[in-house]
Amino acid sequence: MNRTYYIAGNWKMHKTRSEAAELAKALVAQLKDGKHKYLVAPTFTSLETVAAIVKGTNIRLGAQNMAAEEQGAHTGEVSVLQLKDLGVQTVILGHSERRHVYKEDDALVNKKVKLALQHGLEVILCVGETLEEREAGKAEAVCETQTVKGLLGVAAGDLERVVIAYEPVWAIGTGKTATPEDADAIHAYIRKVAGKLYGEDAAQRIIIQYGGSVKADNAVQLMAKDNIDGALVGGAALKADSFVPIAKFS
Ligand code: 13P
Repeated sequence: MNRTYYIAGNWKMHKTRSEAAELAKALVAQLKDGKHKYLVAPTFTSLETVAAIVKGTNIRLGAQNMAAEEQGAHTGEVSVLQLKDLGVQTVILGHSERRHVYKEDDALVNKKVKLALQHGLEVILCVGETLEEREAGKAEAVCETQTVKGLLGVAAGDLERVVIAYEPVWAIGTGKTATPEDADAIHAYIRKVAGKLYGEDAAQRIIIQYGGSVKADNAVQLMAKDNIDGALVGGAALKADSFVPIAKFS
């Protein structure tokens, strides 16, 4: 199965608008002949600025989170309608920092997933176990639960707009990467779970990114694995010099 590699940069809570613009311009210039699918996800405050720069290029615009409600009295939240208005095409949901620092549970993540899909957005659904869960032998079970509950009620026809990102919590921002073998095993397991839910064909088509200390020097080995279809990059996505080599791996 030939799946398109999908390399995404999650800028997290970094960069002012001018810094975001500078990075976006550099990526547009340096990735214009890139062969893979690309996305950048700036903070909310930089979305409009970056939207103008990536519009019409081969780089998609992503948001890092979204409210579970369409609109209303939700102080501090950002709605799907507002994201779409800015040209956002993709939303990252269930990131481990949302789950573990801001206590988002599977039911909330699922509500967001369905709302985003209903409004035509692409979703990157993040799953992944903590170190404690891995050491207790629960990595697969945790990823299965987060996948199944995250996709609850998602129609088969919408699955082509769903990307799964496997981000083991212990590998995020720590410099520790899952070995390509360990990551691939979890990716294969998640694909199996998707197969049980949507059938083997759909499972073979679904893009599963790996995230957690991806750098230029480990990207190739990770991407070489059968079930690893791209990367969701944090720290190394903050500079063109470190992101472009990942994005242009071959
Ligand atoms: P790092 O690449 O900094 O480990 O972050 C990964 C991540 O959380 C991307 O969403």
